[in-house]
Amino acid sequence: MPHTKRRPTKAIFPVAGLGTRFLPATKSIPKEIMTLIDRPLIQYAIDEAREAGIEEFIFVTSRGKSALEDYFDEAPHLKAELEHKGKDDLLKVLEKTNMASGAIAYIRQTQPKGLGHAVWCARRLLGDEPFAVILPDDIIQAETGCLKQMVEAYEGIGGNMVAAMEVPPSKASAYGILDVAEDMGRVVSVKAMVEKPAPGTQPSNLAVIGRYILAPAVMDALDGASTGAGGEIQLTDAIAAQIGSGGVYGYRFDGQRYDCGSKAGFLQATIAFGLERPDLRDELAAFLSEIVPARDAAE
Ligand code: UTP
Repeated sequence: MPHTKRRPTKAIFPVAGLGTRFLPATKSIPKEIMTLIDRPLIQYAIDEAREAGIEEFIFVTSRGKSALEDYFDEAPHLKAELEHKGKDDLLKVLEKTNMASGAIAYIRQTQPKGLGHAVWCARRLLGDEPFAVILPDDIIQAETGCLKQMVEAYEGIGGNMVAAMEVPPSKASAYGILDVAEDMGRVVSVKAMVEKPAPGTQPSNLAVIGRYILAPAVMDALDGASTGAGGEIQLTDAIAAQIGSGGVYGYRFDGQRYDCGSKAGFLQATIAFGLERPDLRDELAAFLSEIVPARDAAE
């Protein structure tokens, strides 16, 4: 089916979750607006999508997410002030936050019924073509963005593709896990997917991470889908339903993933990204080399 091999030009960003692990902050700030150094999580996701050739950005939002919607608007007063002060570097930073009129759409998920349901909410904005899904709280530090790596592989394969990463066996029960039919190195073909397997029952240590390129048939599987693990409509189940037809592939991406939906992951990402930044790395490295031995000595 040639249409399943096309490059995706639309991406869905499911951002309707409650973000309870970051309460009380998420009582009034959407998790996706929380900042990694000086950019909100959502900006990293948008930059990665743009790099991969995405032209239309669909946000599935919920109550209390208006800060996220405002973030992508032009800020004429701020712009005028920066122009007046000749702050060209900051103007460039600001420019990256702007979205062309019509390139961005917001769809409401009225109840948090799970990731599969959030993706399904965007169904009317998609045509008969593959689409990407990006979970902004999975931040991937990579030379070439994870989605771009996947798009390049997808062009030759088609079907459905999920980002995959090796995890320690003790952590497998926190992820969707792939049962591998054939391991072709960077790409694996998948014969089954298990969402959050009971400890010790995982078919492999290859976990699904929050980047997907999906064929339109996934939306059909989500239509009328019943709830799965955790009482939510699982995206994993709808993707797994494609195994016999369109095919499902895991893509072992190059890069380091941080789970910014968890506090420990967010802190680790902050340090890792800080150590990459020329304006911060020396001071941060010096601080870490002082504080870590001092803490060890105190224990
Ligand atoms: P999480 O499992 O991290 O849930 O969702 P959450 O609500 O964001 O955070 P916690 O667990 O309460 O702290 C993974 C992704 O799926 C989206 C979230 O916004 C996040 O990007 N999601 C989840 C939805 O859009 N709708 C849902 O019903 C559930």
